[in-house]
Amino acid sequence: MDIRKIISEMTLEEKAALCQGKNTWETVGVPRLGVPSVWVSDGPIGVRKETGGQDENGENTTAEAVCFPAMVGLAASFDPELARFAGNTLGEASRGLDVDVLLGPAMNIKRSPLCGRNFEYASEDPYLAGQIGAAYIKGVQEKGVGTSLKHFAANNQETRRFTIDERISERALREIYLAAFENSVREGKPWTVMCSYNKINGVYSSENKWLLTDVLRGDWGYEGAVMTDWGATADHVKGIDAGMSLEMPRSCDEDDASVVRAVREGRLSEAALDREVERLLRLTEKCIEGKKTEYEYDAGQQHHMARRIARETMVLLKNEGGLLPIHGNKKVAIIGEFAERPRYQGGGSSHIRATEVLSALEALRSVSAFTYAKGFDANADTMSDAQYEEALETARAADIAVLFLGLPDAYESEGYDRTHMRIPACQEKLLNGILDVQENVCVVLHNGAPVEMPWVDRVPAILEAYLGGQAAGGAVVDLLFGAVSPCAKLAETFPVRLEDNPSYPYYPGYRDRVDYAEGIWVGYRWYDIKKMDVLFPFGHGLSYTTFAYSDLKLSSDRFSRGDKTEVSVRVTNTGRFAAKETVQFYVRPDHAGRPRPIRELKGIGKIFLQPGESGMVTAVLDDRSFACWDEESHDWLIEGGRYIIEAAASSRDIRLSAAIEAEGDPECL
Ligand code: BGC
Repeated sequence: MDIRKIISEMTLEEKAALCQGKNTWETVGVPRLGVPSVWVSDGPIGVRKETGGQDENGENTTAEAVCFPAMVGLAASFDPELARFAGNTLGEASRGLDVDVLLGPAMNIKRSPLCGRNFEYASEDPYLAGQIGAAYIKGVQEKGVGTSLKHFAANNQETRRFTIDERISERALREIYLAAFENSVREGKPWTVMCSYNKINGVYSSENKWLLTDVLRGDWGYEGAVMTDWGATADHVKGIDAGMSLEMPRSCDEDDASVVRAVREGRLSEAALDREVERLLRLTEKCIEGKKTEYEYDAGQQHHMARRIARETMVLLKNEGGLLPIHGNKKVAIIGEFAERPRYQGGGSSHIRATEVLSALEALRSVSAFTYAKGFDANADTMSDAQYEEALETARAADIAVLFLGLPDAYESEGYDRTHMRIPACQEKLLNGILDVQENVCVVLHNGAPVEMPWVDRVPAILEAYLGGQAAGGAVVDLLFGAVSPCAKLAETFPVRLEDNPSYPYYPGYRDRVDYAEGIWVGYRWYDIKKMDVLFPFGHGLSYTTFAYSDLKLSSDRFSRGDKTEVSVRVTNTGRFAAKETVQFYVRPDHAGRPRPIRELKGIGKIFLQPGESGMVTAVLDDRSFACWDEESHDWLIEGGRYIIEAAASSRDIRLSAAIEAEGDPECL
């Protein structure tokens, strides 16, 4: 495509038209000049392609597609390679359904456990989120399909998401809320970025020049197009001027006309319009090229991949007395409707019409004999006396009771936030009743975000299965019965109670404003500096084996700007089960300076080890492992002094540490 030539031949009206969608999912293209339209579809954990019809409930029909584990779980794998593999698979599914751009990944930071969309987001930690985001983007795009990194930025709550003004300090933005986007952009190079609905410090993202031009393009070198979230345009002309390329979906003819008028009246330069037109034409060119990439798409195969991926996304939170894995000769009682009808995905624009769903009950048939009681209704907080009694009887008569609990669909979704962190009262009542008659209880949780567990001390085993995609039931059975060991770790802290969360006093704001008064103290950064007890810490996750850490080494004990310092540690599988271990490397400043978190995650590595086997896990530390944002110079600065590098099994299970002396930037002296 000769893009310069095409632009020179386009009329002003055609340019304006290109900057607005043709309909809900397509760009207009320029048919006269041979420029085709581009088809975009949600994302992020399956392809939701609308087929043009409506079902009996008046909902738009969508093509069937394989539903993969939600991003909360993908991040819990702590495994960028897995995210890339998932991306490859999603790219192939997009190609199979003729989709040019998949609308994901969503990289907003989990500020509060209440956010209704947390299941779609990766982590409370920007480093981890950024690693997973970049890998996912590469994975999809390797198959010739674009991604849309969303929702840029600070869409951290659903309450009043269209109008809320998020007041955030520059430091918190750079260190926490923008950093995952930054790495996803720099490393992943997404073909598109989608702006958020909200305002940041008084300016809508869709017309925020600082965000879309100064930071995204200027600081991070992004070259692609930016589209609005669906209906996020405030003022289309202002948007184009600020660096917004595409208004989605189509809203009205007047928006095209307003752009033409603004150029004619000199309120918008034609150069600014041409710049966005060029970005959209380059996107179109990539989509045309992408279609030439080879791919294989077989939905049946993808279902098996979904199961394989799901096993790596579920976190074993507790396993007292080695209750798990369950041995074949045990009498097993399965309780809770989620075992029959797993809650495997969240609600809203990411909702997939799955090709098939594998429940735990179905998967269990080929593995073990069992009894089953429904116990309660998965969709509501209701349980009859008969259901309660039947469940208790079933549990009493078995050697072990596995309870499938979780949040009903109505509790968390795009569009609204939770108001509390409890599971339905009927489920708590049932669990407590069962614990009175059966001590061998394992709880399997289906939920998209942390829940409070006032019952935690009474339950010996807990598997956090999250929203594991359409093969979730198979993966749960694989883990419970030891076909493979759990290996995921929490990408978010589970606080003891909602009120412990640092955003609690401010969330979700008043009228159209929310203050991020907790600043950079998000997630474990807060719980650690406050030395607070948590229910389960960031990075926590058990295995069926044990691992020993030794030989922590740094390639140098001095760090200067521009260096790449290798940190490595030996991990040995000291138990009897082949399994993967996730190693976390934290950096801890050990000198007087500006207020900083006790420790911050700056490296991850995962390794599969047979019993008795050992291997090295390595990560690379660079400037950003040591730097913090300086609000005076508006730049990243490295404070000189001693830093401790920690190799850890979780943020509260530090196994080894070594010191490094960093040379500071002159501004910090
Ligand atoms: C959501 C986006 C989604 C878009 C298109 C919006 O409401 O916030 O995540 O991609 O709709 O469905």
